[in-house]
Amino acid sequence: MQSSLLNKTLAYVNGQWVAAASGKTLAVHNPANGEFLAEVPDMSAAEASAAVEAANRAFSSWKKTTAKARGQFLRRWFELIMANQEALAQLLTAEQGKPLAEARGEVAYGASFVEWFAEEAKRTYGEHIPSPSPTSRLVTIRQPVGVVAAITPWNFPVAMITRKIAPALAAGCTVVLKPAEDTPLCALALTALAEEAGFPAGVINIVTTADPVAVGDTLTSHPLVRKVSFTGSTPVGKHILRQAADTVKKVSLELGGNAPFIIFDDADLDAAIKGVLISKYRNAGQTCVCTNRIYVQRGIYEQFVERFSAAVSDLKVGAGDQADSEVGPLINSKAIERVEGVVKAAVDEGAQLLLGGARAEQGELFYQPTLLGGVTEQMAIANQELFGPISTLFVFDDEEEVIERANATPFGLAGYFYSRDIGRCWRVAEGLEYGMVGINEGIISNEVAPFGGVKESGIGREGSKHGIDDYLEIKYLCMGGI
Ligand code: SIN
Repeated sequence: MQSSLLNKTLAYVNGQWVAAASGKTLAVHNPANGEFLAEVPDMSAAEASAAVEAANRAFSSWKKTTAKARGQFLRRWFELIMANQEALAQLLTAEQGKPLAEARGEVAYGASFVEWFAEEAKRTYGEHIPSPSPTSRLVTIRQPVGVVAAITPWNFPVAMITRKIAPALAAGCTVVLKPAEDTPLCALALTALAEEAGFPAGVINIVTTADPVAVGDTLTSHPLVRKVSFTGSTPVGKHILRQAADTVKKVSLELGGNAPFIIFDDADLDAAIKGVLISKYRNAGQTCVCTNRIYVQRGIYEQFVERFSAAVSDLKVGAGDQADSEVGPLINSKAIERVEGVVKAAVDEGAQLLLGGARAEQGELFYQPTLLGGVTEQMAIANQELFGPISTLFVFDDEEEVIERANATPFGLAGYFYSRDIGRCWRVAEGLEYGMVGINEGIISNEVAPFGGVKESGIGREGSKHGIDDYLEIKYLCMGGI
């Protein structure tokens, strides 16, 4: 494998690497130092539409391939991704900013979805239904929904793509992907590896653009698209749901979170501090499942603040390609300006600034790991997704109260708590209104478990044996005259 396969800067439609018809491009920069990395095509809505038509043509033959054959294509893709793990991780760090160790982990995590769905392709079983009539036989089969539009975010530019594309391809669907404007290079690199794995023309199409609204709206309203899968913010998710309504598409949404992390006074405090540190500060706090609100029981609050402050102060801020970096830059200037505004507003509302609270010296997009104490639900900061390296500390007295406060949000993606009381573990796990709950665990994502939220955090599940369901329709066959 030559690493030149990872240097793709053209879009990919119907098996061809193509520039935008207008010749327009979109520049990609390294968030750690502003360095120019590459230009990719700035495709139009009309070109997105052409990609959908190509995917639709390819669907007529791809859907007829055997599940075993589709699994073999995916297996080859998985092997190529892992063979290029280091080069992909370096590209990921360059365009997204996360520390190299996290980028290597993301490539392996992303590849794990391809491996998993290579295996799951063969398990899309139908069923036999005992008939109410002696003269008929009833069965169901499961068939691919058709063309899938996948719209992916910049915070996991490898894994969020494979978590959508792999089950779609395994099911027999074809795909048009629009990657985020900040991170198109990983998407193109993954596509080059998919091409090397031998996927037929039109099965995977990638449309890069500087105009996500026009291209996104085309994909989410196009009559030939039968399913949309989106990861990103809740407001955009709501817009997509409305867009998809007119043509009644299937929609999967993985949206924002406001994750509580509850530490009871019976918790193993060392483990809780480790768990909250990784859950909060991985990817500089830019994940949908990152801890957003830390609730600490009153009796251990002072002790927790002291020990957690020491752990946060020890975090190494730096460019992702520096060996000891643990907190990289934020993705762009809009992101850091938003984080600055959120912290300032919290301090103005009475939160105590315990650590950080300003840009870091490492560069324009670096923000100091920040700790705010004495936060209450009345403050604006408690009611929004932080998406930055900021911890907010709340104090609570008892179990029922903290469950109620943790649930008092329209979001419901991930929640976490630490306790060593087995009865409490069940009560709290069942009481939290979240799609995923970490019990004495700060990192819960993997390919075998269902990822997704409730309430305004989304619809559907990705990964696991459930992650292929939304790419399949159930067809009921009633055979009479027996
Ligand atoms: C996300 O932030 O959207 C994904 C996080 C994960 O898969 O762990």
